[in-house]
Amino acid sequence: MAAITSRSGAPYARIMGVGAYRPVRIVPNSDVVEAIDSSDEWIQQRSGIKTRRWAGPDESVQMMSVEASRIAIERAGLDASQIDCVVVATVSHLLQTPAVATAIAHELGTDHAAAFDISAACSGFCHGIALASDIVRAGSAEHVLVVGVERLTDILDLTDRGTAFIFADGAGAAVVGPSDTPGIGPVVWGSDGEQFDLIRQREDWRDVVGSPEVPGSGVMPHLTMQGNSVFRWASFAMAKIGQQALDAAGVGLDDLDVFVPHQANMRIIDAMARSMKLPDTVRIARDVADQGNSSAASVPLALDRMMAEGDARSGDTALLIAFGAGLSYAAQVVTIP
Ligand code: UT7
Repeated sequence: MAAITSRSGAPYARIMGVGAYRPVRIVPNSDVVEAIDSSDEWIQQRSGIKTRRWAGPDESVQMMSVEASRIAIERAGLDASQIDCVVVATVSHLLQTPAVATAIAHELGTDHAAAFDISAACSGFCHGIALASDIVRAGSAEHVLVVGVERLTDILDLTDRGTAFIFADGAGAAVVGPSDTPGIGPVVWGSDGEQFDLIRQREDWRDVVGSPEVPGSGVMPHLTMQGNSVFRWASFAMAKIGQQALDAAGVGLDDLDVFVPHQANMRIIDAMARSMKLPDTVRIARDVADQGNSSAASVPLALDRMMAEGDARSGDTALLIAFGAGLSYAAQVVTIP
């Protein structure tokens, strides 16, 4: 048996830079209520959402990702040619293959970076940060670009009362690179496939397209969600996962500066903060109010905003947690770059 040479990378990994792209169009509740027989008051009360960002025709998954990534790479103090791995978390790149990450890597000008997509729905970005951290520490790449991006309006049924008002579009990116001190804590992640149907693409593509013998429906498959079941699961189970991520990182509540939960619903954010007994000193991301729920993009968009507005400062300790379809979830403590 031949001896295989192994490789090891940096002692630790850290987030080096964050960037974001928000679609130009701001959509108020008044624009969505008629088709779902709802009201501005109901939407605000149940979700905390006042407006959301919806992409226009030119704001593709690739375009939004490239814009967010350019900013993240610049803030990391790098050139795109130094990125040697690109991980894109999304569920709304509607071409089955190839991975949109390859086109993003090419457009950015990386030097033949490894590039692949991951599908973990709303928790995709935190999965990507976990992978990136391990990749850097294993020496498989030096600088990993992690993108969370969605154009959910392509798969939204605007007449569906359970989803039309909540979901949104956008992109966020982070560069993960080597560090002499720990900058990304151990991930706490998992899934509960027993609840596979709670948030899902309604129809299988084969039922839509069909076969020459049996034509399909021809109707675009949309996203469906049993919102209240997801709501109850997220509000209670996810606080425990957040605490486990703090414990795994050896960070006490008093050492925590910033909390960036998935921007699913303001009530879930509040319920988690209460369950976790977060001290008043912890600054909490509340981007959902005017961004909506942008799935894989929600955590990096919220993080970018907190950094821009001075609520997350360089050196702060932040807890990231994301959860969604699968059901799947991932959480980790990070140091703000
Ligand atoms: O991002 C991935 C993870 N996703 C999430 O974490 C989302 C989790 N879920 C949620 O955020 C919430 O479940 C929603 C905001 C989607 C809905 O809020 P809810 O408090 O769970 O409402 P519900 O579905 O239990 O509906 C309450 C009532 C019902 O009427 P009755 O039975 O009480 O008379 C619904 O028929 O509100 C009614 N309703 C609506 N009314 C006006 C349902 N949808 C609407 C609507 N407008 N759009």
